[in-house]
Amino acid sequence: MSRLRFVHAAAAAAIAATLLVPSRRAGTQGPGPQSVPAVMNGCHLCHAEYVKEWAASHHGKAWKDEHYQAEKAKLPRDKQAACHGCHVPVQTQNALGKQPAARSKSLDEGVACVSCHQIPGAKPEDIGTIVGPYPAADMVKGHANRQDKGMVTGVAICASCHGTDQVHNQVDSWKGSVYEKEGRTCQSCHMPEVKRKTFDKQGGFPRDGRKHTWPGAHDADFLKKAAVLDVKVEGGKVMVTVTNEGAGHNLPGGGERELVLVVRVTGADGKEAATWRETFDLRTKNNRIKPKESRALEFDAKAPAGAVQVRLLYKLSPDQAEDKAVVMAAKETKF
Ligand code: HEC
Ligand code: HEC
Ligand code: HEC
Ligand code: HEC
Ligand code: HEC
Repeated sequence: MSRLRFVHAAAAAAIAATLLVPSRRAGTQGPGPQSVPAVMNGCHLCHAEYVKEWAASHHGKAWKDEHYQAEKAKLPRDKQAACHGCHVPVQTQNALGKQPAARSKSLDEGVACVSCHQIPGAKPEDIGTIVGPYPAADMVKGHANRQDKGMVTGVAICASCHGTDQVHNQVDSWKGSVYEKEGRTCQSCHMPEVKRKTFDKQGGFPRDGRKHTWPGAHDADFLKKAAVLDVKVEGGKVMVTVTNEGAGHNLPGGGERELVLVVRVTGADGKEAATWRETFDLRTKNNRIKPKESRALEFDAKAPAGAVQVRLLYKLSPDQAEDKAVVMAAKETKF
């Protein structure tokens, strides 16, 4: 391990020396390294901030994730290989939208930098040609670049793993939504905008880019943007409306998740009169809520007067206890 660290430090120093002063012109810089250590394909040597964000995200954890490992372990060994393609993928460039094949190396890196950015064909330890949002002619030379404007304006970069089957169909359920019509891509909600220098060494200048954090189902604040509740009581009926206000696709987004609506009625004496539950999911009811869709539900109030407390819970899996679930929205009303 210490020997490996030493190699990194030496490579970093060598790389720092090859990067010259900033310029907005092509070809005015010294060449980037031809070869770098196999770990992270060297991305961490020049893009440390991106690596830090990614490592804490669920792309960085796609293999190490305990939940993933536990679910996979329930399957017979010959069936497990079918899971690897999206959780430890090879490069997806050149075949965007197709479910990727699995890698056999560096499994701990999950959905790695090279999975989204590298053109296939480079040796495993090399950077090769990198696809990114900016014109190649505009870059400080670090490696070969190829521009793909679609990384900024389209969803193809996400479709290989988030749109190929019913369980992970965020791309399919985004299509035809108001978000597609407004040009609001996956990136616009899941990769917050940021202006910053894109690499850590000398040179370069701040550019408009995006954070590599991918907030989603594990981020309570993010989940609270997804849904709104409306509650009223009329003629002995509790009427509840659940609207998918902020998710750009089906709510819940993944086939493993569950939304649970809990409606609790208490009488004028403060004692519980009734508690109703309604689930929205793919697995048992196949009734997920589409973008901007509202679902109206009716329950018997079971009391002439009192109060209704409504909570909408987000469960990461059917086994998760309700008291561990995130409360996405809550409302209370008296009648
Ligand atoms: C030797 C340092 C170095 C290493 C190692 C390195 N990069 Fe870069 N990278 C740069 C520099 C310099 C730029 C240009 C930055 C600028 O002009 O703002 C850049 C730009 C980029 C861009 C934007 C390209 C575009 O055309 O929009 C991406 C994406 C990128 N790098 C990804 C990676 C990935 C992924 C790895 C690992 C496989 C990696 N880089 C390894 C130095 C490096
Ligand atoms: C090569 C496959 C692949 C590609 C391409 C990909 N993802 Fe993912 N993504 C995954 C996997 C696998 C997970 C789940 C990892 C886990 O938690 O085990 C995931 C998880 C996520 C999450 C959920 C995080 C959470 O907390 O639940 C978000 C959000 C996300 N991806 C957004 C995107 C966006 C946006 C794009 C396109 C820019 C994209 N992904 C491209 C494979 C991919
Ligand atoms: C799931 C796919 C995905 C993964 C994994 C990924 N990126 Fe990106 N990356 C993108 C997208 C999409 C953009 C374009 C964002 C935009 O609109 O500016 C981007 C842009 C960039 C840029 C250009 C600057 C910017 O913010 O736009 C750099 C540099 C970069 N990525 C480096 C990395 C590094 C280093 C890693 C690994 C730690 C990595 N990326 C992992 C999808 C990915
Ligand atoms: C308008 C904002 C918005 C857009 C656009 C959007 N999402 Fe989401 N996404 C959310 C919200 C809010 C959640 C959390 C609630 C949920 O699970 O649906 C979420 C959840 C997710 C999750 C986590 C699901 C899970 O089960 O862990 C993934 C993965 C994801 N989105 C991927 C994508 C992809 C891929 C696209 C592009 C087709 C996209 N999102 C477009 C807002 C958005
Ligand atoms: C088509 C690509 C793809 C395949 C194949 C795939 N996954 Fe995933 N997986 C994802 C994505 C994308 C997510 C993020 C949330 C979502 O869409 O449900 C995810 C999330 C998960 C999660 C939730 C992790 C968390 O954040 O709590 C588990 C568990 C999981 N996958 C297990 C598996 C198992 C087991 C297999 C094999 C039977 C498998 N996956 C095959 C793409 C895939």
